[in-house]
Amino acid sequence: MPSPSAKDSTTKITLIGTGTIGLSFAAFHLTHLASPSQLTIYDTRPDVAEYVQSQLPKFFASPDQNQNHDQDTNTPPLPNFSAITIATSLPSAVQSATIIQESGPENLSFKTSLWAQVERHAPSTALLWSSTSGIPASQQSSSMASPSRLLVVHPYNPPHIMPLLELVPSPDTSPEAIQATMEFWERRGRVPIHIKKETTGFVANRLAFALLREAVHLVQQGVVGVQELDRIVQTSMGPRWAVAGPFKSYHAGGGPAGLEGFFGNIGGTVQKCWEDLGTPSVGDGWEEGVFREAREAYGVVDVGERDRITRRLLQVLEEERGAGGKEE
Ligand SMILES: NC(=O)c1ccc[n+]([C@@H]2O[C@H](COP(=O)([O-])OP(=O)(O)OC[C@H]3O[C@@H](n4cnc5c(N)ncnc54)[C@H](O)[C@@H]3O)[C@@H](O)[C@H]2O)c1
Ligand SMILES: *[C@@H]1O[C@H](CO)[C@@H](O)[C@H](O)[C@H]1NC(C)=O
Ligand SMILES: *[C@@H]1O[C@H](CO)[C@@H](O)[C@H](O)[C@H]1NC(C)=O
Repeated sequence: MPSPSAKDSTTKITLIGTGTIGLSFAAFHLTHLASPSQLTIYDTRPDVAEYVQSQLPKFFASPDQNQNHDQDTNTPPLPNFSAITIATSLPSAVQSATIIQESGPENLSFKTSLWAQVERHAPSTALLWSSTSGIPASQQSSSMASPSRLLVVHPYNPPHIMPLLELVPSPDTSPEAIQATMEFWERRGRVPIHIKKETTGFVANRLAFALLREAVHLVQQGVVGVQELDRIVQTSMGPRWAVAGPFKSYHAGGGPAGLEGFFGNIGGTVQKCWEDLGTPSVGDGWEEGVFREAREAYGVVDVGERDRITRRLLQVLEEERGAGGKEE
């Protein structure tokens, strides 16, 4: 994805916790910062320095390494990974940061005690972001003196590729912090969406997990197998929804009468499906069969291939938006 503006030489970003998500964020930031020394990493794993030096370069490997796609031409030079600051304590990690994002364990008491400490050592103007998938900012900030700078900035994995960031402030987050966060990601060509209420799971995961529940139900009922269900999604709503979301899609599907026409035509079927939705729960006993079927179908999934194809798809969508008028 081409970077839309000149490189940023003033922002100083500290990432706390660099597992799956934090490391991917690090890779993203390195492509937008003027110098890798503007990035600080703090993680309590004892081998953090070696781990970062050995794992981060993998994000920058050429996408063409095992297949030749001649259109991926603009491969930028590799960042100097050894210029990244690896902090050895939390206070030193945050002391001069302008942005601090935590991607540590999904654990409420970890996050509340972290932010209370961060607040004591970070500049008073630093923005404070949590990658959490489900612990609202209003709970994370319970031990802070001033919760106005903290908000959830929830990525869709992997964040070095996926454009979406769900911005979920608490009722105490200031409008200025929300605005500055929106601008930060927009400047970098990302798609930050302001979620207006602290709903369980935010929005993207709620939608995905609603589909997942019905998928489990259909497999459990013997309607289709795991692989067939995946093929159905990949060959229908998957590509459709990359182009237009469900509302726009069905608005188009209703012809000139739009969404109203769509419900006029097949609202009855929609309602019957809604009434018939399955309600499997985690731990209900469907797991063994479904897990086994997935293992037998896919073994260990190659995420390198997933990421390479996703990048190409997003690139096409971006080119199309550039060519045919901006959407939203
Ligand atoms: N994995 C996903 O798909 C995904 C997607 C969106 C959001 N998230 C959220 O991102 C956060 C991180 O998830 P992950 O999957 O990267 O987890 P992970 O286990 O891969 O990484 C967590 C990292 O935190 C480090 N850590 C542990 N204790 C620490 C401490 N006290 N101080 C600093 N670092 C510490 C660990 O060493 C590890 O590197 C979670 O809050 C999760 O809900 C995850
Ligand atoms: C990379 O950064 C390190 C640490 O700042 C520095 O010592 C080294 O000279 C840099 N290498 C290059 C090629 O710039
Ligand atoms: C959550 O974090 C707290 C404080 O850091 C720690 O004491 C506790 O063991 C953690 N809980 C789990 C389930 O990891």
